Amino acid sequence: MRPNNLENYWMPFTSNRDFKADPRMIASAKGMYYKSSDGRQIMDGTAGLWCVNAGHAHPKIVEAVTKAVQTLDYAPGFNFGHDGAFELSNRLAQIFPENINHFFFTNSGSEAVDSALKIALAYHRCRGKGTKTRLIGRERGYHGVGFGGISVGGLVKNRMYFGSLLNGVDHMRHTHNPDLNGFSRGEVEHGYELAEDLERIVALHDASNIAAVIVEPVAGSTGVLPPPKGYLKRLREICDAHDILLIFDEVITAFGRLGCATASDYFDVEPDIITFAKGLTSGVVPMGGVGVKDEIYQTMLDNADAPIELFHGYTYSGHPLATAAALASLDAYVEDGMFENVNNLSEHWADCAHALKGLEHVTDIRTIGLVAGIELASRPGAVGARAYDVMKAAWEKGLMVRVTGDVLAFSPPLIINKQEIEQLFETTADVLRKVL
Ligand SMILES: Cc1ncc(COP(=O)(O)O)c(C=O)c1O
Repeated sequence: MRPNNLENYWMPFTSNRDFKADPRMIASAKGMYYKSSDGRQIMDGTAGLWCVNAGHAHPKIVEAVTKAVQTLDYAPGFNFGHDGAFELSNRLAQIFPENINHFFFTNSGSEAVDSALKIALAYHRCRGKGTKTRLIGRERGYHGVGFGGISVGGLVKNRMYFGSLLNGVDHMRHTHNPDLNGFSRGEVEHGYELAEDLERIVALHDASNIAAVIVEPVAGSTGVLPPPKGYLKRLREICDAHDILLIFDEVITAFGRLGCATASDYFDVEPDIITFAKGLTSGVVPMGGVGVKDEIYQTMLDNADAPIELFHGYTYSGHPLATAAALASLDAYVEDGMFENVNNLSEHWADCAHALKGLEHVTDIRTIGLVAGIELASRPGAVGARAYDVMKAAWEKGLMVRVTGDVLAFSPPLIINKQEIEQLFETTADVLRKVL
């Protein structure tokens, strides 16, 4: 076969120069493993990009999508409907928090976030509180790459190249404190009081100008930061006190990553809006969405000043292939007991991850659910270089690792077993012993 010219494809979030000099090509995938184009088996330590929760090529999902494409390849979502989108919304209402029963569909997490921010603004305006327009995010937050998402997000590189972003945005302080919370399992002990930073922002701008606060319940892309104990509950209280919407960005936490349908369930805190994507379809067809509490939906329907209550939507909102993949994924999670598997294995997962403490360069390890972040000391003047080399060496040894800065982030498919967990961290340890 004629090898492809690698130049034409502009790869996302990738050093194109480095990759094209030394490509890592994936040919196929099944269950916990990829096969590289040179025929090697590679364990998926990251569920792709935190999305292939049911494992690769799950027969139920493959069958559902195959059937869907043969039956209804596309249906417009504006002014027309199809059963899949309604059925999926019914199913999500059953597993999402009690008051979150209305769902808007997108194609990605980024679009879910931008949709949620727009819904928050439109909702306040609709109820006669049109001055509530400010959006509050958090330092180190990741909410995708749309202009809304990077504006409320707090990762410098994702913001600094793209101009002045949305105006009227402010950020709370991040919760990372390795001196006090180093080598943590689950929620961290210290940092509850950082929720009060929202009060500082309210005092500065006045609540009458603030629409919503958005946070990841567990910050993922910045390098796995579980929240401090009680922090999310306190954010909820402050939002309630000031009539501010609380948005949980659950793009990585929903659909079993913490052993529950949502992180809201895991932490027992109910937000007003939840954004989700990834595990919804187990990554098989792109899809995301926004779940809103009844009061938001009802207010918009009762008070909208035009027949169309929300002037927002995508050509592919509720795409039939995506809804088929999502329904089959939700079935697979239940029938194969995948969330239970996470709960049964999360202690062993944490034990194996924390066994890497003491290896050279390892400065912190953080675990929660089926997630682990292993932080490495940065090489002087070259933040991220060491973890990047670990990622490349792990690929050679048959393990896919995700890196963000100098943190190795692990989030395997929820079908992983005990031996595979051991293998994953043993391989990582081997690599860490070799990478200088
Ligand atoms: C918390 C969070 N929000 C939003 C996104 C963006 O999702 P997508 O890449 O599907 O646009 C991500 C992606 O990793 C995420 O982790």
